[in-house]
Formats: sequence, C-alpha cells, structure tokens
Amino acid sequence: MAYDWDRLRPPTSLGFFEQKWSRRQDPLAFSGLWRFHELLPFAPASQVVTIGEGQTLLHAANGVGKYVGMQPGRLFLQYEGMNPSGSFKDNGMSAAFTHARMTGATRAACASTGNTSASLALYSCVTRLMKAVIFVGSGKISYGKLSQALDFGALTVQIAGDFDDAMARVQEVSRQLGIYLVNSVNPFRLEGQKTIMFRVLEGLRWEVPDWVVVPGGNLGNSSAFGKAFAELLEIGLIDRVPRLAVINAAGANTLYELVERRGLRWNGGASDLTKVAGYYDQLDRQHRRASTIASAIEINRPVNLQKCLRALETCDGVVREVTDQEILDAKAQVGAGGLGCEPASAASVAGAKALRAEGVIGSDERVVCILTGHQLKDPTATVAYHTTDQDKFNEVLGSRGVKRAAFANRAVAVSNDLTEIIKAIQLYS
Ligand code: F0G
Repeated sequence: MAYDWDRLRPPTSLGFFEQKWSRRQDPLAFSGLWRFHELLPFAPASQVVTIGEGQTLLHAANGVGKYVGMQPGRLFLQYEGMNPSGSFKDNGMSAAFTHARMTGATRAACASTGNTSASLALYSCVTRLMKAVIFVGSGKISYGKLSQALDFGALTVQIAGDFDDAMARVQEVSRQLGIYLVNSVNPFRLEGQKTIMFRVLEGLRWEVPDWVVVPGGNLGNSSAFGKAFAELLEIGLIDRVPRLAVINAAGANTLYELVERRGLRWNGGASDLTKVAGYYDQLDRQHRRASTIASAIEINRPVNLQKCLRALETCDGVVREVTDQEILDAKAQVGAGGLGCEPASAASVAGAKALRAEGVIGSDERVVCILTGHQLKDPTATVAYHTTDQDKFNEVLGSRGVKRAAFANRAVAVSNDLTEIIKAIQLYS
C-alpha cells in the first residue's frame, strides 16, 4: 500500500500527535492506533472501527537489560500484551475491520496460531459487524488463545494439520466463498501494525532507537515496522531509521535460513525466488514441519517473506534463530521483571542477548524488544518451566530439547499443618 504524501499533507512534526492526548473522550484520539490516523490515511474517520486498542506501554526494563548484557537504561520492552485481546494483533485487526467495513463484508476469516483468531473473534463479537470463521491447526494453539475464540463465539475450524496447512486452506476457502481474509497477507493489517513503532517513538520522546528486535513468524510485524520507518523518513518526520533484528525460533527458521545462510535479499524487489522454492521443496522432501514451544511463531512458510526482505533492506536488518531453551529462559527473565509474555515474544529478548554476545548490538545502544503477546496466553509453557514435577517438565519441554529451567521459581509443597507451613516460609523466604 502506498500513499501520495504530497497530496495528503501529513503533519510536519511527530509532536503534532501529542495534542490528541487531551481529547481522549474521542474514540479516534483515544485509540493508540487511530491517534496516528494521518499516517495510515486509507479510511475516512466515519468508517473507522476501534475498540480502544493500542493502550500499550514502553517499559524501561533494567533487570531484563542486565540479562541481555545492556548498560542500565538502554533496554526497553514494548508491551503489546496490554491490547484488548492480549496481543499486538489488535493493531492490525482494527485496521483490517475498518477496511472490511468499507467493502461491506459480512464474514471474516483467518488461519491462526491463536492470537489472530482471538483478535478476530473479539472484534467480531464486540462490533457485531462480521461473523468470524477461524482455522486452527489441531492441537497447535495454546489453551489461553483457544479459549478466547470459543468464548467470543467464533466458528472455530480445527484442521488436522499445522498453521502452514491452515493458512493454505483458508486462502482457498476465502476465495471460493468470498470471505474477507484478515491474515497479514491483508495489507491493511500491516498499516495498523505500523503504529506499534509510532508508539515506540512516542515512548522515547520521538527519538529513534538504535535497534528494534521482534520475533518473526508470518513476518507481518517486521514488514510493517520497515514500512513505518521508510514512510516516516520519506515524509521527513525522522532523519534516520533504527536497525531491525528479526528473531526466528530455531525449529521454525525459514527467514534465518534463507537470509543468513543462503543470502536471500530484497534486491530492489527482484529477490531470487528460486532460493525460496528450493528451500520449501527441501522441507517437503525431508518431511520437516515447524516445531517450537513458541507456538505463535511455529511457521515454516511466512506469507510476508518478501515484504520482510524489504524491511531488512530499509533498516539494515539482521536475522537470528534462538532455541526453545533460550526462549524459555528469556521468558522467565521477562516474567521476573513483572510484565510477563508468552514464549514467542521472549524470542525478541533471547535474540537481543545473542546479538549482544556477538557484539552486533553494543551495550550502550538503545534497544527496543517487542513483547507481542501476554503471559496468560500460554500458561502451560510457564507452569511446565517452573514445575517440580519432572514428568510434566519432560512432557511439555523436555520433548522440545529444553534441558533445564535455570530461572525456575518452584512452588514449595508442604503438608496441611501450621507448624510445617511456618517452617517452610522461614526456610525459603
Ligand atoms: N508473537 C506472537 C505472540 C504472535 O501471535 C505472532 C503471530 C508472532 C509473534 C509473529 O508475528 O507473524 O508478524 O511475524 N501469530 C499469528 C497468529 C501467526 O495466527 O496469531 P509475525
């Protein structure tokens, strides 16, 4: 999606958006998305769909910063778990619903690892504008997310397959039945997700950070972030862009494999797609499916691959992969800092730590890690990490190559006896 900025005449300074803070009774000024309407001007105000998304926080996290290897005051967490459905997806969903309303759509569909479906189900249920149809891989989404879709009343289709299968099927079904598709192949989703970066800048008093680190699954966020910075630069609202780091889980590392090992680049829009096709053929021949505890990013065929390559080009980006062990340790550190996240989100922190260890990120650079989803989205992974029950640990985490829980906070088991309870508290506190 491209705008003719000469005709649109966007604001001449980012400080322009501050005047909206005093008009918070107006839903368009309240929304963390639509208060930046001038930077995603594809819809008239009368068509905008908002449920108050984007009231999120940029949090200076020194404890996590220390773990990553940063000097005090240099690591920030952008906490998108504060959105109404508990993940960043509401940014994109508000924008997609706005466009869907403009087209007169009455049904909307998505394939999902759980958060897109929770968000779609929520927007459908609150606005009553559309019926939600969601496709999920059977057994592939966490209970927190599945429970949202069911509670909000979405038609939930569990496919015997994984996200990559569900994504392929939903595109066919939507085409055949004329259902509006809200996966991030939908460019309006990405327009909404640009605002995560606007809020990061806002949180930094409109200063550009040195790094933005984001988990990579379907690559919608990374694509949207690159577009946000390219446009701000074009309009003249910023004078430099941050570097972008996209972090794959090692068990779902298509972007890492293609960019860092096989040299795939944006190349002015002429990326070497034979490299992509060759890699996907190889995955098929080896019967390799995506596999990671970070189920949100358990994706081998990211739909926004090419847009992400462009973002990497715009922001002098790098890609890294992190193991499930690294993800869960980072997640425990994030949780101990108070703003918990789900496993996929912690990939950003684990990735920042790896880049810091390599010396790619300097200890005094200003780094923003995106926490994409709330801690309560996936309690199974969290409880398994902290458990004292070895069988539980092995079943949920050991099977994924996780060997230890270095930052576990284990519950203390005591008999139902006052003396024993007091003894335990004195012993452990
Ligand atoms: N983090 C979380 C919590 C997610 O739910 C997702 C994607 C990502 C990161 C990856 O983001 O696609 O922009 O690279 N979840 C999708 C879903 C696939 O269906 O909810 P991306």
